Amino acid sequence: MSITLQDKLNAKLLHRIDELKARRHAVILAHNYQPDEIQEIADFSGDSLGLSIQASQTQADVIVFCGVRFMAETAAILSPDKTVLMPDPSAGCPMADMIEAEPLRQLKAKHPKALVVCYVNSSAEVKAESDYCCTSANAVEVVRSLPADRPIIFVPDRHLGRFVQERTGRDLILWPGYCPTHQFIGEPELRGLRDEYPQAVVMAHPECSEPVKALADELLSTGQMLKFVQKSPARQFIVATEIGILHALRKARPEAQFIAASARGVCPNMKKTTLDKVVASLENMQYEVTVPAEIAIRAKRALDRMVEILPKR
Ligand code: 13P
Ligand code: SF4
Repeated sequence: MSITLQDKLNAKLLHRIDELKARRHAVILAHNYQPDEIQEIADFSGDSLGLSIQASQTQADVIVFCGVRFMAETAAILSPDKTVLMPDPSAGCPMADMIEAEPLRQLKAKHPKALVVCYVNSSAEVKAESDYCCTSANAVEVVRSLPADRPIIFVPDRHLGRFVQERTGRDLILWPGYCPTHQFIGEPELRGLRDEYPQAVVMAHPECSEPVKALADELLSTGQMLKFVQKSPARQFIVATEIGILHALRKARPEAQFIAASARGVCPNMKKTTLDKVVASLENMQYEVTVPAEIAIRAKRALDRMVEILPKR
């Protein structure tokens, strides 16, 4: 017998989470790629930019961050007076691990006039070496805001970087990082689905490979996908990103059909969060995410600039 969302969301567990949240004065933030039941219990679920803004503005004492490490670190840097907890401390991001501070310092030394823009999918140490941070929602606007006479180093996602290059016409010095989950979404599979559903609008995340993005009608962050489907008259959508977003899309447009571009688009780290781990996190105040002050202060400059520059859509 398969376990349904309702089975997972049993009343006793939900009551326990509410009780603990009140006791700890906590808020639960969840990324759009989290398991369905985690998105259901979250006070706010959204994309990386939306979550960073929520983390910087919350009045709660404790933030339970259901996502991956760089997101929890970002919350800890933006809200230094809050306690930030991760239900599973091993949830990392392989793309964020593709760049470290020392090689970035070496690249900066080769391009002393360059400004550094880092994708939020990066460690606190890398953010501390950067001038600006961005998410996939505002990367274009962040790069457009930079002086035309300065070279720009963009790390670590080469796919997001190429997307920004195309949209802004700026020539970026790219780092060769990528998201393994988005890399699994293949062009032949997407082409097949487009032929099968000719009416469908194809939405792809900028982290997808170039051949996949070339087949898309819209290139959007996960939060932008949600806004887009709420306004679009279309009734069929092919979605090229991690499959967790389908939950929120289906809730937003229950009568529409959403088709995953690939069943392999699953981020194993995002799926590490469970309801039991959220309960344990609130019960035992585990696992606290902290960033050393000397790194946090430097990283915060880049992050403050990120949350100030809002996307056009
Ligand atoms: P967004 O939700 O900001 O589009 O981020 C995608 C992602 O891969 C986060 O790890
Ligand atoms: Fe990192 Fe990709 Fe997972 Fe996002 S989906 S957390 S970029 S591995």
